Amino acid sequence: MSLNIEQIRGLFPVLHQEVHGKPLIYFDNAATTQKPKSVIDALSNYYELDNSNIHRGAHVLADRATRYYEETREAVREFIGAKEFAEIIFTKGTTESINLVAKTFGRKFIGKGDEIIISTLEHHSNIVPWQMLCEETGAILKIIPINDAGEILFGEFEKLLSPTTKLVSVVHASNALGTINPVKKVIAAAHAVGAKVLLDGAQSTSHLEIDVQDLDCDFLAFSAHKIYGPTGLGVLYGKRDVLEAMPPFLGGGEMIKEVTFEKTTYNDIPFKFEAGTPNIADVIAFKAALDFVNSLGKPAIKAHEDGLLIHANELLSDIKGFVPIGTAKEKVSVLSFNINGMHPFDVGQMLDAKGIAVRTGHHCTQPLMKRFGIEGTVRASFSVYNTRSEIEKLAEGIAQIARFKNK
Ligand code: ALA
Repeated sequence: MSLNIEQIRGLFPVLHQEVHGKPLIYFDNAATTQKPKSVIDALSNYYELDNSNIHRGAHVLADRATRYYEETREAVREFIGAKEFAEIIFTKGTTESINLVAKTFGRKFIGKGDEIIISTLEHHSNIVPWQMLCEETGAILKIIPINDAGEILFGEFEKLLSPTTKLVSVVHASNALGTINPVKKVIAAAHAVGAKVLLDGAQSTSHLEIDVQDLDCDFLAFSAHKIYGPTGLGVLYGKRDVLEAMPPFLGGGEMIKEVTFEKTTYNDIPFKFEAGTPNIADVIAFKAALDFVNSLGKPAIKAHEDGLLIHANELLSDIKGFVPIGTAKEKVSVLSFNINGMHPFDVGQMLDAKGIAVRTGHHCTQPLMKRFGIEGTVRASFSVYNTRSEIEKLAEGIAQIARFKNK
């Protein structure tokens, strides 16, 4: 079923404004998506009606806030197909979720000489925590190479696997290129040598249907703000037995069962990993974002976004000086490119002057940029509220900029 995009756009107040005297065209969705009114309302309703701390009050507001908070946990469980609500941990974002695994699972189960495998496509947030762990423990980081289209070389990955591989941590969909990795195959191959697998789902959870039980990943990390939800909130999914075997991350309130000066016993999952007062308002508002996505259905969202990417490629492929970066067969709706002879930042500024918001630079993937021998790209990333006519304006803008430089 095709979506009514005009109706959807009506739900997003921020889209209806001008920048530099031009209607805003927002193509920076891989950095963060805009928020529907229902999410904004859920945030202000919480503060206007329900504001209270959770899991501890003996009063109506505390009960209500606790119920709403836990309802979001249940909605997240359903959204990713997890078996139990206890496997859903709220964090600050994908970065914190990955760091949590590095600092708990990593410190306990990965030691000197053990190997961690990541790919060339990774965001810095799925590189640096592992480098820090390797420095601390003497573990070794191995990198899956990619081809010129930006796809991992699966055969090379298999060669890296061995009984010393303790963890494979890969991105589901690349933020810089849009490549969708064959994660089910990656997970099965990693499990065959006894390694655990973490999926960085920051860019996939808003576009692709995710079923963690079917994928069989051990961890999934993602952020609310890339799925039309609030900033400052992330999720770590982990399988029960893995989470239970891990030591806690932060110490404090909520994550304990009993504290004496001699000894502390820790709470059950997920609370063991949620020390302190959590991000209550944003968790509660995140449910409205999930409801929004569910009301459309991810297959319909993906079909619309794929259509936009195909349209963009058709319009741009003949433009002299236009160089696409990342041409994988399976992609989410990310168009990364350069224009010959121009710095990505200058292209971004020229597009901004036309009202078109894109991201430029290395996209927190410096090793990936190095693999392509470039400093950065211009990245236009599409979402469900973008239209074909916006794509046409982007293509016109790029054509003008490229003509100016590539006569
Ligand atoms: N990781 C986000 C991006 O790709 C911020 O833009």
